[in-house]
Order: sequence, then C-alpha cells, then structure tokens
Amino acid sequence: MSAVLLNGKELAAKKREQLKKDVEELSTKGITPGLAVILVGEDPASKTYVGAKQKACEQAGIHSVLIKKPDTISEEELLAEIDRLNKDEMIDGILVQLPIPKHISEQAVIERIAPNKDVDGFHPINIGKMMTGEDTFLPCTPHGVLVMLKEAAIELEGKHVVVVGRSNIVGKPVGQLLLNENATVTYTHSRTKDLRAMTKQADILIVAIGKANFISAEDVKPGAVVVDVGINRVDGKLCGDVDFESVKDTASYLTPVPGGVGPMTITMLLENTVQSARNRQ
Ligand code: GUN
Repeated sequence: MSAVLLNGKELAAKKREQLKKDVEELSTKGITPGLAVILVGEDPASKTYVGAKQKACEQAGIHSVLIKKPDTISEEELLAEIDRLNKDEMIDGILVQLPIPKHISEQAVIERIAPNKDVDGFHPINIGKMMTGEDTFLPCTPHGVLVMLKEAAIELEGKHVVVVGRSNIVGKPVGQLLLNENATVTYTHSRTKDLRAMTKQADILIVAIGKANFISAEDVKPGAVVVDVGINRVDGKLCGDVDFESVKDTASYLTPVPGGVGPMTITMLLENTVQSARNRQ
C-alpha cells in the first residue's frame, strides 16, 4: 500500500462538529435550519440514504422532516407537495430523493423546487450559477470531492482531471467544479473509445460510472490521485467503482469505499441547508 487514503469519514466528522456550532449560533437568532426530504416508493437503497441524511440532520441539530409517498403518487400531487414546502417558512431545504418512478418527470420535479431551497444544487438556475462560478448551492457529491481534494492540499490548477461517468448528479458537475479550479478536464463515459488510454493520462481520476471494481491498476497512471465515487453492493459487501486492492499500490492518493466520498456528500447537504437558513436573515 503506497497510496495515502483520503479519509472522508474523518473529514466529515470534523465538518459536522463545526456545523453543530453554526446551528447553535443560528438558534441564538431564533433560527433552526429545516430540511424536508421526500421519499417516493420503497427503493431499499434510497431508504438507507434518506435514513442516513435524517440521522445526520438530527446530530447536527437541523430540523428534518421525512415525507414518504407511495410510488403510485401522480406528478401533480408530488408537485403540489413541493409547492407547499416552497412556502413553508420552517423549511430551508427541499430534497426529493432520486430516482423517482418513471411516470413522473424528474426534470419537472427538480425545476419545481424553489432555487433558494434547492440544497441538492440540481435546479437549472443553480447549475447555471455553478457553471459561471457564481456563489450558489453546489451539488453535494461533487462539492464533497472538491473539499476532500483541497483538504489534502492536492494541487488542481493545470492538472489533467479525467472524469469517468457523465451523470447530472456527479460526473458533469464534478468536472465543472474542477474546471472552475483551473484544472484541465476530460469527460469519459460508457461509449468512450479506448477508455484506458484516457484514464491513464489522468493526474486526478474521478470515477463515477456505477460499475463495481471497474477501474484497476492498469487504468491508472502511477502516482495519480484516484477518487472513487461509486457505491456498489457485491455479495452484500459495499465496494466502489475502483478495485481498491489493485489500485492502492499505483495511486498516490485514494478514497476508500466506504468511508471516502460518501460521508462527505451528506455533510455538504447539511452545509447547504445551514447556509440556506442563514440566507433567511
Ligand atoms: N440519489 C442519489 N444521490 C442523490 C442525491 O445526491 N440527491 C438526491 N436528491 N437523490 C439522490
């Protein structure tokens, strides 16, 4: 093992201690940050993520409300629920856990959330601001990746970042955030030809393709920083998109799964919610 582990769990814990203090300070002004999470249906992974978000809110002193809806809910009803939360003065952040059932337009749902309560950073207005580098809610997982890299004092300027995966939630925005930091960014995805030739050029390789152990040492330039955003379950065991055992002797820095990017995602959500509450003033 030559790679230094980027310990997201530890960093997240440190950040959450600070958040707790921020929440206490807000409470002296009579403000309790509030997060509403809407969970549609019974997807087990979504239930786990939502449970983790709620627990983290509770520990930080953030008021959280879980709104559970059956997967038979109509788009109209779901949009009406969002309208109600947009008007609720106790709620600073609204999060609709994705994925949602196919009969409901994900885009319509995202666009219905008031941009000033969009703590996921998924609304087109917030995405636009992120692209132009304006101050706004940043999407949580990409922001968590950036914070981890900065915490480890990994230089970004001029570095070649290769992103594997182009989802709206992770791949696209993480590339944008690193571009904003003056990195040179290459996006790759499932249809990229000769993916290995691309990944091997990366100074910083960010993998968010959703395939267990997809990246091995042969895909990585010696000394590269490797960030694994994947969360997969293989034989009941959590693993990332990067084959940890294979890459750990080739990379200079590596994020473990679990305990890497995952805990940072929730922390960034809490930060956005607290910031939204501050914006009330
Ligand atoms: N599903 C998987 N990741 C996310 C996320 O960051 N936000 C929401 N709302 N749903 C998700």
